[in-house]
Amino acid sequence: MSPGKRLERIAARVVFDSRGDKTVEVEVTVEGYTSRVSAPSGKSRGKREVVPFPEGGPEAAARVARERVSRLTGTELESLLALDRRLIEMDGTPNFSHIGGNTSIALSVACASAYAASEGKQLYAALAQLTGQDPALPLPLSNVLGGGAHAAPGAPEIQEFLIIPLGARTIKQAVEANVAAYRKLGKLLQRELPGFPLGKGDEGGYAPPIGNRKALELVRAAADEVYDETGVEMGVGIDVAGSNIYDPNSNRYALRSEGLYLTGREFKEYLADLTDEFRLVYIEDPFSEDSPQLYADLQRDLKSVLVCGDDLVVTRAELIEEEVRRGAIRAAIIKPNQVGTVSLTVDAVAACIVNSAVAVASHRSGETTDAYISQIAVGLGCKVIKCGLIGGERVAKLNELLRIGEEIGEGRMRRLLI
Ligand code: PGA
Ligand code: ZN
Repeated sequence: MSPGKRLERIAARVVFDSRGDKTVEVEVTVEGYTSRVSAPSGKSRGKREVVPFPEGGPEAAARVARERVSRLTGTELESLLALDRRLIEMDGTPNFSHIGGNTSIALSVACASAYAASEGKQLYAALAQLTGQDPALPLPLSNVLGGGAHAAPGAPEIQEFLIIPLGARTIKQAVEANVAAYRKLGKLLQRELPGFPLGKGDEGGYAPPIGNRKALELVRAAADEVYDETGVEMGVGIDVAGSNIYDPNSNRYALRSEGLYLTGREFKEYLADLTDEFRLVYIEDPFSEDSPQLYADLQRDLKSVLVCGDDLVVTRAELIEEEVRRGAIRAAIIKPNQVGTVSLTVDAVAACIVNSAVAVASHRSGETTDAYISQIAVGLGCKVIKCGLIGGERVAKLNELLRIGEEIGEGRMRRLLI
C-alpha cells in the first residue's frame, strides 16, 4: 500500500455569499498543494438536509473549524476521500449539527481537490477514476425566471422556470443557446410589462410580477424562438418547490396570483395541464416533500416528463433509491451540502445511475464564486447541471465547464433522451 498523503494545514474564515449572507470558506493543504473552497447556502431547504451551521451560525462554524477540526492537521490520508470518515466521526451527530454541513462539505471538497492536485489531477479526473465514470459534460439546466422563496411577493409562486438545450452538441453551444433564450425572454417581458424595470431573483433569473401561466408562456416562446434561429432543441421545465406553496392547515396548494387553492389531486391535474400546454420536460419537487405518493401519481401520468426530487430526497442515496423504485421520480437533485461530504455525494449519484435515474448536480440559491459543483458533475456522471446562467457566481460554474471541455473535448456532452 502506498504511504498516505499528509494533511498539513486547515484554515477557516467567514466570507459572504451572493445574497450577502455569511458562510464559511476553508483552506486545506495536502502534500504542499492548497485548495480553497467556500460553501453555498439554500433558502428553500428540505427538512432532512444536514444542518448548515452549528449553533451560533457561520461565525461559530469558522471558530469550530479553527479550534476543533484543525486538530485533524497531521493526519495521513490514505485515499482521495479519506477525510470524510474522520469528519463524520469528529462531528458525532446524525446531521452534522456539531461541525455544520457547510464547513464539512467545504473541507471535504478542498481536501479531495488538494489530494487530486498532488497527483497532478483536477478533481473531476480523480473522481472519474474513483467511480469508473468516463468524464463528460452535463447539459446546463438554467433558471431564466424566478419566483417563490427566491423572489419578492408578486412574482410567480412556482420557484424556478428553467430551460435546457437538449440538442446542443458542445458546451459552448449549450451556454449560448440558454443565454439567447434569456435575452429573448427579457424582450418579451418588456413588451408584456411596459416600463417594468427587469428585476432579478436570487438565482439571476428575471423576477417579474406575473402569474405562473404567463411566465411559462413567455419562457416557452423564448425557447421556441431560439430553436427556430439555431436549430438547437430547447426543453422547458420548472422547479415548483412544492413544500413552499403547500399549506398544511388547509391541505391545499396555494397559487395566490391565480386565486387557486388546490388539493393535491387538483394540483396534479394543474401540472399535467401545464405540461401539455407548454411541453414541459422537467418538473422538480411538484408537491410537498411529505407526499411521495403524489409524485408517483404524477410520474405515472406524465411518463415522458422527468419528475425530479430535491427536498424529497436531499442527496441521500437511500432516499433516492426508495423513491425511484416507488416510481415517484426519474431524476434527483445532487446538492453536496445537503449531505456534507463528497463521499455521500458519490453514493447519491451512484444510486441514480444504478437505478437508471438522471442525476442533476445543483447549485444553491445563495452561491459563492466557487465552481466545484461543475467538477463533481463531470467526474461523477451527472447528465444535467442546474447552476443558473446570469451573475458572476452562476457563470463561474459554466465557465468551469468550458475549461474542462478544453481538456476532455467540448463535444463530450452527456445526452438526455426524454
Ligand atoms: P435553495 O433551493 O434555495 O434551497 O438553494 C434551490 C432549489 O430548490 O432547487
Ligand atoms: Zn429545488
